[in-house]
Amino acid sequence: MAKKSLPHKAMLNLIVGHWVARLIQVAASLKLADHLKNGPRTAEQLASAAGVRAPELYRVLRALASVGVFAETKNGRFKLTPLAATLRTDTPGSMRGQAMLLNSNWQWDAWQQLLPCLKTGEVPFDKAHGMSSFEYLEAHPDELAVFHKATTGLTNPAIAKAYDFSKYKTLVEIAGGHGALLATILKAHPTLKGTLFDQPSVIAGARKDGPLTAKSIAKRCTLEGGNFFESVPKGADVYTMKYILHDWNDERSVQILKNCRAAMHDRSRLLVIDSIIPPGNGPDYVKLLDIEMLIIGGRERTKADFAAIFRKAGLKLIRIIPTKSPLSIVEGVRA
Ligand SMILES: C[S@@+](CC[C@H](N)C(=O)[O-])C[C@H]1O[C@@H](n2cnc3c(N)ncnc32)[C@H](O)[C@@H]1O
Repeated sequence: MAKKSLPHKAMLNLIVGHWVARLIQVAASLKLADHLKNGPRTAEQLASAAGVRAPELYRVLRALASVGVFAETKNGRFKLTPLAATLRTDTPGSMRGQAMLLNSNWQWDAWQQLLPCLKTGEVPFDKAHGMSSFEYLEAHPDELAVFHKATTGLTNPAIAKAYDFSKYKTLVEIAGGHGALLATILKAHPTLKGTLFDQPSVIAGARKDGPLTAKSIAKRCTLEGGNFFESVPKGADVYTMKYILHDWNDERSVQILKNCRAAMHDRSRLLVIDSIIPPGNGPDYVKLLDIEMLIIGGRERTKADFAAIFRKAGLKLIRIIPTKSPLSIVEGVRA
């Protein structure tokens, strides 16, 4: 057979990208990285720890090692590599939650509707499941728990460092999930008071064992359930909203922003924390994340896109602050 050209090889690697993604999901589900944290083990030892069959697990590990996730030692054991170590549950910024969430069957079911929906304009997730992604999560508590673990990552310390919160007395985090970002900011600013606002079912989870239950900050925060399409808590000095507007189309996003504007006083700041699509053809994770958002009916945005939805909501975009993470802080005031 003729030797494959470089573009053909590169294309083949892209075509089978979902094989690799699914293997990583299997490794994450079986907690293989956790089972290796005390040192290398054979496939048999790992299979017994994970409760699966050794011969097939060996093949899964060998395939993963071929892409740098785990490595086989000369004496036939498998060990962690830097890539594999990110899947450990006890590591800061663990990627295990994302590996499980982004490759879950219910997400893949929605991706299967991308092609037909490109023709009809329907929302792929809604077509696959007969409900929106947030309704789906409300109805599936196990998936909801995975979702909130997956969205707690290394981005929060980067955001807390990139913006000077010290000049404010009160902060409302809109749709803050279990409160990981708010907890990070409150820990860094001992006089700041915070309110976590999210859907009632999510607030119930946050009250149970979320990061805001930590002793050092619990007294300085209030938790409030509600719907940001109706209203958000009033009168805070600063509002944060991370990974929210990308879940929604422009019309719904403007509605959320109008409700923020109505709650803000004249000196309040609104910090929309999302990725910004850069111009040009260069590789950027946000351009792929935009398709994940297309699947659920949302979108990632360019700087001009943000300025336009701010304007429509009666807000003025005053600056965009980069962080040492893929996220930027889009700062706005009442126009
Ligand atoms: C992508 S998550 C982001 C969570 C958190 N901000 C973070 O960055 O980890 C979206 C959040 O929006 C919340 N949400 C969705 N619809 C909502 C609504 N109508 N009112 C309030 N919160 C809502 C969800 O419960 C979820 O916590």
